[in-house]
Amino acid sequence: MEKRETPIREKNIMFTGFMGVGKTTIGNLVAKKLYRDFIDIDAVIAAEYEKPITEIFQEIGEKAFRQREKEIITELCHKKLKVISVGGGAFLQQEVRDIAMSSCMVFYLDLSWGSWKDRINLIIDSRPVLQGKSMEDIEKLFYERQKIYSQHHSKVTMDKQEVEEIADHIVDSIKLAWELYD
Ligand code: S3P
Repeated sequence: MEKRETPIREKNIMFTGFMGVGKTTIGNLVAKKLYRDFIDIDAVIAAEYEKPITEIFQEIGEKAFRQREKEIITELCHKKLKVISVGGGAFLQQEVRDIAMSSCMVFYLDLSWGSWKDRINLIIDSRPVLQGKSMEDIEKLFYERQKIYSQHHSKVTMDKQEVEEIADHIVDSIKLAWELYD
């Protein structure tokens, strides 16, 4: 029997984008404003292994991390009414991009390189992918990654507004989509 498409009001909401742009902060705020559960995929993996992501990367390697990341995202995408924030590398996997686009409203949180690089000291210790890289390498990775985030339903620029304003703007656009496509 053909599976019926989930009504837009029940679809999960997903946040993607580069490391440290604010996916977890925005995801949390949007979930609260919509009275939904919020799930941060990195937090789920860290809780499962009972250690931080940096240690998990060292222990099992990036390949096994990506595999687990994909499994958890896939499982969640089969549910409804969730707000999910995925790690910045999750969209490297075609299967993740495909299931995200079909089961979620995907928001790409975009920050300019100029604003992002000022945040690096706040995030580098907890991001294994950035460690041991020069600023030039990181800038290259930043621009390369833009390609994988090009699959989304809505792009949100994070540069100029406060997180609360951005979350309100996202909630408004979700409600508009609910009304338009109900
Ligand atoms: C990664 C991003 C991280 C985390 C891991 C790998 C990446 O998540 O999943 O360190 O490859 O971009 P955040 O985007 O939440 O920092």
